[in-house]
Amino acid sequence: MQDIIDRLEMLRVGARLGGGQARIDAQHARGKLTARERLEALMDPGSFEEMDLFVEHNCTDFGMADNHIAGDGVVTGVGTIYGRRVFAFSQDFTVFGGSLSESNARKICKIMDMAIKVGAPVVGLNDSGGARIQEGVASLAGYAEVFQRNVLASGVVPQISAIMGPCAGGAVYSPALTDFIMMVKDTSYMFLTGPEVVKTVTHEDVSAEQLGGAITHSTRSGVADFAYENDLVLLKQLRRLLAFLPSSNREPAPRIDTGDDPKRTIFSLDNLVPNDPQRPYDMKELVEKVVDNGDFLEIQAGYAKNIIIGLARLNGQSVGIVANQPMVLAGCLDIASSVKAARFVRFCDCFNIPIITFVDVPGFLPGMQQELGGIIKHGAKLLFAYAEATVPKVTVITRKAYGGAYDVMSSKHLRGDLNYAWPNAEIAVMGPKGAAEIIFRNEIKASPNHEAKLKEVTAAYAANFANPFIAARKGFIDDVIMPHDTRWRVIRGLQTLEGKQLSLPWKKHDNLPL
Ligand code: HXC
Repeated sequence: MQDIIDRLEMLRVGARLGGGQARIDAQHARGKLTARERLEALMDPGSFEEMDLFVEHNCTDFGMADNHIAGDGVVTGVGTIYGRRVFAFSQDFTVFGGSLSESNARKICKIMDMAIKVGAPVVGLNDSGGARIQEGVASLAGYAEVFQRNVLASGVVPQISAIMGPCAGGAVYSPALTDFIMMVKDTSYMFLTGPEVVKTVTHEDVSAEQLGGAITHSTRSGVADFAYENDLVLLKQLRRLLAFLPSSNREPAPRIDTGDDPKRTIFSLDNLVPNDPQRPYDMKELVEKVVDNGDFLEIQAGYAKNIIIGLARLNGQSVGIVANQPMVLAGCLDIASSVKAARFVRFCDCFNIPIITFVDVPGFLPGMQQELGGIIKHGAKLLFAYAEATVPKVTVITRKAYGGAYDVMSSKHLRGDLNYAWPNAEIAVMGPKGAAEIIFRNEIKASPNHEAKLKEVTAAYAANFANPFIAARKGFIDDVIMPHDTRWRVIRGLQTLEGKQLSLPWKKHDNLPL
């Protein structure tokens, strides 16, 4: 028996070396961890249990019959993160470049199926040369099997993709189907067609980094949600992200003891909004002051900065924050910000995470670029997302809520549950100057001093209409609240809404304006 045990241990040790020490050294020399080192850093110490360590490929072409490495280029299994079960696969670049074979895909599918059945997140650590070239269509079939499961798992269990090396061609579509994409700066890239093909087809000269690096995708394309300095930082932040999320759509948003006083008043918020309505202020300051211990995990922080989205806790409960940012484009909604926020609202709704919306929006961004780019359809995505969301929705208007954007930003009319406004809020069809220019056009024209008249009628319009009380009188605003009470009022609102149940009319699925 001891012989058998020793032999098993030997096999295990051999298998765990993947492509061998030289390739492991090469991986380290590039500043990258190996597939197994990454899983160790991701999971709670000693919690990872590997599956299918001895799986091999079944390819016999191109000299592959005699070229087997146990595990076949991907490490799969289950472990815990902060004590909660998480399934993961980690592509092993030291084995056939981490390329995806039929067997290797079957391993990934096995843990995805299990995760869906038991209701636990799936994390994919991607570092791969793509389809196993020697296997041809069998590899493509493997990808499609993974894609199918990504779609089935969507909205059922959280799926997080980390890009920690190459990810090219159709392989990018598995991460693209998941909830969040994290990338490592300088050592990871994602693109459909690489720099050589781009050069041949469009004659553009670009590097892999420019085309699909972490900075490109986290600031320009919006494909990546997070970009981090190295593997270890990414894996630590991945743990942090999962801590905010329920394990599946069958669980409520997690609640932990953060130790932050729910009734904490924040007097500095009384002076946050400048007297001049044209002057910006930093909405992120408000968010960080209101949430528990200032712990705000911002998502897509470098992309469409005119809207802020992210996860935080209020009285220990995970919440999703959506907030207009007056520092960028005056907080206007445009195509990119609408799509960014719409996807996040839908994510929160899938996973029972209440949505807190802070509103300071002068409207949709005007212009040819926006109209030709389809702002009508893209803006509708955000409207659609808020309107269909059934999780608790608490809204605070801190300053402007103008026009269609007032409706869109979790208004009472889109089934906002609790809608509050600060006393200085301006809820109107448009800004007072624009409104006065239209409705007092004749009076202004007739006046000998246009400027003075415009000022006078603008002030009169602002006094009468640009305030929260008209909306409050109609019950569209549930209460006008003191800025310094915002934290407590939102937390009380969440307590009021606990146990909320709301269902949509039966449908196969909706027809979101894509
Ligand atoms: C089989 C592969 C492989 C692949 C890499 N390797 N990619 N083996 N299939 N797709 C092997 C290499 O032969 C090499 O083996 C080892 O992995 C390491 O690769 P290197 O080229 O030495 O590494 P590096 O210089 O870092 O370059 C990494 C790379 C390059 C840029 C990813 O390997 C590369 O271009 N690979 C091919 C990428 C590709 O065209 N894939 C198919 C894309 S189409 P040895 O034994 O020599 O060390 C696709 C379609 C998916 O993926 C469709 C889904 C629907």
